[in-house]
Amino acid sequence: MDSLDPPAGRRSGMINPAGISGYDAEAFIRANIPLVAAPSIAGIRVHTAQPSTGLWRLLESRRGAGALSPYWAYPWAGGIALAMHFLAHPEIVWQRRVLDLGAGGGLVAIAAAKAGAASVTAADIDPLAAVATKLNAVANGADVLVVQDDLTMGPPPAVDVVAVGDLFYDQDLALRVTAFLDRCLAAGIEVLVGDPGRAFLPYQRLRPVADYQVADFGETSATKPAGVFSFTREGEGG
Ligand SMILES: C[S@@+](CC[C@H](N)C(=O)[O-])C[C@H]1O[C@@H](n2cnc3c(N)ncnc32)[C@H](O)[C@@H]1O
Repeated sequence: MDSLDPPAGRRSGMINPAGISGYDAEAFIRANIPLVAAPSIAGIRVHTAQPSTGLWRLLESRRGAGALSPYWAYPWAGGIALAMHFLAHPEIVWQRRVLDLGAGGGLVAIAAAKAGAASVTAADIDPLAAVATKLNAVANGADVLVVQDDLTMGPPPAVDVVAVGDLFYDQDLALRVTAFLDRCLAAGIEVLVGDPGRAFLPYQRLRPVADYQVADFGETSATKPAGVFSFTREGEGG
């Protein structure tokens, strides 16, 4: 298994926000995206875009139309379900090394840290997600190592649990994530998935563990069901 030590400059606290995007990402997030209670989760606050934020327009004006979508600015249903599950069943992560893959704003990572994980790494390809996760972790007093990288292309990391919150919304990504999770399983890593049933969720590989009723992607009142699943070897799910 590979070490999770990130390349120089990518560890939390070493990210240079100005360098990644031409402006101060920390200041941008603090100024435009309020720190609010995470939906359905007592005691965790995360920077979350509001309808009045106009975030997509703001980002496009600063970064150009090719910028990654700011998915990190909202807790997603799958991540909320996983975070609720870790807080309700801390024994899953207690004293274990946890990777939050596709962390967005880091809600799952923060919940794992609060539930007593031995170490928590949050990985996302989006530099702004890395900055948001760092800010959110600090705001919640959670010790989270932030890695800005695509770990799905590499070997299994040196962790005990991989948590995947809402990553099955795109077909190519779903295929890459599934292949990566297969390598993780083969290395003896437990894999948990939180998802409300996105288009490319590999149901045949999943064993249901728990159901939660959660908000999704900036929703303030409506909720939807989202599941927590154990990712299993070929032929063992469904
Ligand atoms: C739908 S959001 C989910 C965020 C968070 N897990 C949650 O549930 O709130 C998906 C996140 O995965 C990230 N992502 C997409 N492809 C990725 C990859 N190959 N490796 C790591 N993160 C990735 C995106 O940048 C985005 O922040």
